[in-house]
Amino acid sequence: MSERRGRVEGKVAIVTGAGSTPGPGMATGRACAIVLAREGAQVLLADVDGARAEETREIIEGEGGQAAVFAGDMTKAADCAAMVAAAVDAFGTLDILVNNIGVSIAGNVVDTDEADWDRVLDLSLKTMFLASKNAVPVMAAKGAGAIVNIGSIAGSRGGNYVGYAAAKGGVNALTVDMAFSHGRQGIRVNAVAPGHITTPLLFSVLGVTPEADYRQRLAAAANLLGTAGDGWDVGWAATFLASDEARWITGAILPVDGGVMAVTPLMMAAGLRAEPPPA
Ligand SMILES: NC(=O)c1ccc[n+]([C@@H]2O[C@H](COP(=O)([O-])OP(=O)(O)OC[C@H]3O[C@@H](n4cnc5c(N)ncnc54)[C@H](O)[C@@H]3O)[C@@H](O)[C@H]2O)c1
Repeated sequence: MSERRGRVEGKVAIVTGAGSTPGPGMATGRACAIVLAREGAQVLLADVDGARAEETREIIEGEGGQAAVFAGDMTKAADCAAMVAAAVDAFGTLDILVNNIGVSIAGNVVDTDEADWDRVLDLSLKTMFLASKNAVPVMAAKGAGAIVNIGSIAGSRGGNYVGYAAAKGGVNALTVDMAFSHGRQGIRVNAVAPGHITTPLLFSVLGVTPEADYRQRLAAAANLLGTAGDGWDVGWAATFLASDEARWITGAILPVDGGVMAVTPLMMAAGLRAEPPPA
């Protein structure tokens, strides 16, 4: 799916966390940036690790797309202001913001450290507030814009990741509140809520091991399609929501999860096998 079709032709986009955790597979932020570029956008690749964003730039330019790198920490207000200024400097305007940064740390409310809680909330929610705070005035001045927040099904379903769940529930609330406030300025705000997808992050935690393979097959068995999702699925969904094809969609939280959010666990257990399919 690397052909250019122009669904966001002429638009300028920022993707935060557009690099990738090292490892096999495709990260969601990198996928969003590559798909937006394939569809005609000029993309500012923002990442705290500039070398990771450079790798994404090389992929995009290798395919004939246009991208620039911004190295900065999106938990810092000044860096977010500089990021938006860099997009306008490089490409003349700003049409699309994909807020992709997020991190999860396992634990319940008792065993989660306060420092870990702060880190998860800062990275997974505050970055979206700060980036949007700086992007919205540019979009409002031209009367058009699209913001896509990368949430998670963890924002609506429990899983012993209390800080991450609170942050992603916050992403859902941020999305609808921003959609309310900025709709009349021509700005649409939507979220993609991925399920348990296969990304380099998974392999960075588990390694390329039988356990990682087992987790992937378990994730596939737990959804309605019985197949594994990956970063590209998020990139395609985010690009649709950012494009004019979604011109009448705002305040939506789109699950990209193989149907996990569509069933109750009881019906899943009763109707489908929960164990992974044979290798
Ligand atoms: N992998 C999954 O199963 C899954 C499921 C649901 C949701 N998600 C969501 O997908 C998003 C991220 O996925 P990914 O695959 O791109 O992750 P990733 O960790 O591979 O890439 C994230 C990038 O963000 C950068 N980053 C981290 N902190 C930063 C900061 N302070 N400022 C700027 N950049 C920073 C990192 O350097 C990295 O390159 C998150 O919002 C995550 O919650 C993932």
